[in-house]
Amino acid sequence: MIVLCVFLVLCCNLVQGQFPRACTTSVTFRSKSCCPLWKDGSPCGSNSGHGRCRDRVVFTSFASGRQRQYDDDRLDWPKYYYDKTCECFGNHSGYDCGDCRHGYFGDQCDRKNTVVRKEIRELSLLERKRFFSYLVLAKTTKSQDFVILYTGDRHHKDTYKFVDATIYDVFSWIHYYSMKTILFNGTFDDTTNYAHQGPAFPGWHRLGLLFLERQIQLLTGDENFALPYWDWRGDKNCSICTNDFLGDNDVQGFLSPYSHFAFWKSICSGYDYDEAYCLGADDQNQMEKLHRKPGVDPDFAKLPTMQDVEETLKWKDFDRRPYSRSARRSFRNALEGFINPKDGVTRQNGMHNLVHIYLGGTMSEVPISSNDPIFVLHHCFIDKIFEEWLCRHNATSDMYPENDQPGQGPEECSTPYFPCYRNKDLLRNATNFGYSYSKYQGM
Ligand SMILES: *[C@@H]1O[C@H](CO)[C@@H](O)[C@H](O)[C@H]1NC(C)=O
Ligand SMILES: *[C@@H]1O[C@H](CO)[C@@H](O)[C@H](O)[C@H]1NC(C)=O
Ligand SMILES: *[C@@H]1O[C@H](CO)[C@@H](O)[C@H](O)[C@H]1NC(C)=O
Repeated sequence: MIVLCVFLVLCCNLVQGQFPRACTTSVTFRSKSCCPLWKDGSPCGSNSGHGRCRDRVVFTSFASGRQRQYDDDRLDWPKYYYDKTCECFGNHSGYDCGDCRHGYFGDQCDRKNTVVRKEIRELSLLERKRFFSYLVLAKTTKSQDFVILYTGDRHHKDTYKFVDATIYDVFSWIHYYSMKTILFNGTFDDTTNYAHQGPAFPGWHRLGLLFLERQIQLLTGDENFALPYWDWRGDKNCSICTNDFLGDNDVQGFLSPYSHFAFWKSICSGYDYDEAYCLGADDQNQMEKLHRKPGVDPDFAKLPTMQDVEETLKWKDFDRRPYSRSARRSFRNALEGFINPKDGVTRQNGMHNLVHIYLGGTMSEVPISSNDPIFVLHHCFIDKIFEEWLCRHNATSDMYPENDQPGQGPEECSTPYFPCYRNKDLLRNATNFGYSYSKYQGM
């Protein structure tokens, strides 16, 4: 079936990750200002018309009674850290307006290029090898633009410690930081976070993938680079868990020494929050190697099927009350995998969740799962299903519901991306973000 997508091109600035190195000095924290000088010498490249330093984030946050009891540095992002941030104009983007919106290239950001994300088995041998070498480069190249917050007392900014991280590890850290549990009335509440168990889930992950894809484009100068996806529908087992693809593993779950990612280590292996934002980020010896055990748990030994995906796509409502993992007949909750996609009611681990659990090891510990590059391929396919749903249901940003998940309101900034990108603005077709998906196995 050919699905025609009709959408409006709205004006929105695309953003980049965080924390910008330039905004982590004691001066920036004291002034709560993150408006770095661009290379023309003006804050946010204002002299060149790239953007301006705005006093506060223009978007208003949705603060329900429940939210006010949270005590969390990420709430009303990025208010706790910064009052002043860059607002970029036109096709300019980035924390200092020195980059372009996704899909735009060149000094003036006036060259548009839409990349096509393909199934990894559709790539030629050369394209596949290039992808793996780009990933390895991203895993081993220090990010010039970003550092990661790894420890400190969150009530005292002067105790924060930041550390250098590689480009891939910044991506991994962003996911980890977004889903650290939230302190609610003195106890840690694991039913809410900024990226999951609520309507922000599909858009949040879309932004994360765009961050990594853009960083790799900038790193390699390859403007046509697109992340591949893994269409797991109909796979009897993890067909890409071979050394030609994402790597085979031994009985203990460690990746084969002949695979591309055998020596990758996970940052942020700890779960403590108070003192450690990302335990072990400063110490290679504390980092665990990646591991996987696909299909080993007999209760979760099967991947989602073609039919599961079709059943998921049929739900018309993007999300429904209570906008959590208990939501029934909700596309988002069926996709995320807390309900049976067929009846939309029965609680089960399906779809997105099932693939994480099926793969076992690093992937099954969701906060650190982004360390395994198979996460990228899995989430790219989740994003493709999201894109299919946006097309089939002619979705628009106003379908994004009000809700009281922290950081997940329509007008709130997707957390912790920097500068701000509103959650509801992510409910738009992929071509608005400079990419599309190949057709594969009928979808
Ligand atoms: C963005 O780039 C396109 C060219 O692809 C150009 O037509 C458009 O005017 C640019 N937008 C702005 C606001 O500069
Ligand atoms: C907060 O915790 C206290 C003590 O554990 C409890 O008495 C109170 O009802 C809680 N408040 C809310 C809103 O949950
Ligand atoms: C998946 O199953 C196929 C066919 O049964 C088998 O040849 C292959 O080795 C399996 N792969 C993995 C990673 O288990």
